[in-house]
Amino acid sequence: MAKYSIGTLNNISKVGLDRLTDQYALTEDINEANGIVVRSYKMHEMDFSDNLLAIGRAGAGVNNIPLDRCADEGIVVFNTPGANSNAVKELVIAGLIMGSRNMYEGISWANTLEGDVSGQVEKGKKQFAGTEIEGKTLGIIGLGAIGAKVANAAHALGMNIVGNSVVVHPFLTAPCKMYDDVAEMVKVCDYVSIHVPSLPATKGMINKDLIANMKDGAIVLNYARPDLVVEEDIIAALESGKLRKYMTDLADENLINKPGIVSTPHLGASTKEAEDNCASMAVDELMDYIENGNIRNS
Ligand code: MLT
Repeated sequence: MAKYSIGTLNNISKVGLDRLTDQYALTEDINEANGIVVRSYKMHEMDFSDNLLAIGRAGAGVNNIPLDRCADEGIVVFNTPGANSNAVKELVIAGLIMGSRNMYEGISWANTLEGDVSGQVEKGKKQFAGTEIEGKTLGIIGLGAIGAKVANAAHALGMNIVGNSVVVHPFLTAPCKMYDDVAEMVKVCDYVSIHVPSLPATKGMINKDLIANMKDGAIVLNYARPDLVVEEDIIAALESGKLRKYMTDLADENLINKPGIVSTPHLGASTKEAEDNCASMAVDELMDYIENGNIRNS
């Protein structure tokens, strides 16, 4: 009989589950679990049982977990930094290109065409003409695993990279001019992409003051967390023409169907590869803690 039982929330990937089942019993009753593997389920309202030793978050952000309560109750929380960085990088690069080439607007318009479209296509060609990213400058706020991979990929596409970051992940291989002052950095950027966690110091950091320093027509990308930007300031800057686009992965009712905003439903880590990597890493961390008392990525 298995010594420990583990519960899962959010349909954790099968690859991750398979790693568990040799040694652990999977329980349907989350209230009796010794460990929980979770993706993005919001756990703030959950009661935790006295049996719960640890939570493994299959992802980087831990804002779905009540960290203070876990600390008070001696529940250790692990996350999986880097395990989905490739998937997020690919979506950000798609966002850079989609935003620059007005792809979302062009596709939406093309889907409304009927009958013989040849004459209308000429109109669309002019209406949705874009700009190229090659030779332009991308400013990255936060050069952790994701930011560093975005920098490398964008550089490979011919972009100049500048950065503002407390730490720089060893993944970074692209040449990157660093700025201590983010307000100075954004002055030289055609695109600004944010890749920091949501913390008291980072919440609302893309606001009207920072936007005022940006180039006219800059594109802002936020594939990290919604509260890193002040949404009203983004909307106002799009309305005034100061910003050209806000590309984001954080569908939010305030941002749906707003001109200049292109939002995906938090797809950044939603690839088979990333889901497998995150679930496997979360399971490994949880098992290593429960079996051996080792703490990694807590
Ligand atoms: C993350 O923080 O890594 C993502 O939110 C992961 C996810 O989509 O579950």
